[in-house]
Amino acid sequence: MSPTRPYVLVLYYSRSGATRTLAEQVAAGVEEVAGVDARLRTVPPVSTTCEAVAPDIPNEGAVYATLEDLRQCDGLALGSPTRFGNMAAPLKYFLDGTSELWLNGALIDKPATAFTSTASLHGGQEATLLTMLIPMLHQGMVYAGVPYSESGLVTTSSGGTPYGTSHVAGERSDRSVDDIERTLARAQGRRLARLAMALRPLREEK
Ligand SMILES: Cc1cc2nc3c(=O)[nH]c(=O)nc-3n(C[C@H](O)[C@H](O)[C@H](O)COP(=O)(O)O)c2cc1C
Repeated sequence: MSPTRPYVLVLYYSRSGATRTLAEQVAAGVEEVAGVDARLRTVPPVSTTCEAVAPDIPNEGAVYATLEDLRQCDGLALGSPTRFGNMAAPLKYFLDGTSELWLNGALIDKPATAFTSTASLHGGQEATLLTMLIPMLHQGMVYAGVPYSESGLVTTSSGGTPYGTSHVAGERSDRSVDDIERTLARAQGRRLARLAMALRPLREEK
């Protein structure tokens, strides 16, 4: 169990900023719940040069996540741009380095959720979200999407799915996160934070 104040790790990768905006909204939703913090973290790009080493702190956005950020979290919100209907390689690369957590069952019974951004409306948001949940299920996490009590799921003509929040960024990545997408992302963060607090005693019993 975490020795620090409970927190939800909002872990994302974003190249042109859309997923980062969603991550900030999810984090804002987490912070609305009493007693739990949001910890916003990103991952470095995967380099095509074997010897390239990224600086420890990126030029913009959140700082890079460590294994400890993930080990100690009480919940995880994972965000990625859609890449051919799947998560982006930098995030997958980070997750592929979490075998030690899997071996020790460090993430079992922790709630998790996912969010994504695409260029086009039918560009594979659901496929990406569903494939993002698979590694989390392998880690024994409890997946939570967005329930239909959120009316935006029915009224949206852009992003927003029951599998997780999404955003349609447009062909030139110039479409802003709209009100419905923003509301859904916040609701997703709030729900995850509430579940994180609810599941904490269950994990303490072990
Ligand atoms: C290699 C690559 C593959 C992509 N695949 C898709 C795709 O399958 N469907 C889609 O709608 N957009 C696709 N995109 C566009 C991104 O998902 C979209 O621009 C997203 O909003 C970027 O998020 P970001 O601003 O957080 O980087 C792709 C972009 C790249 C670079």
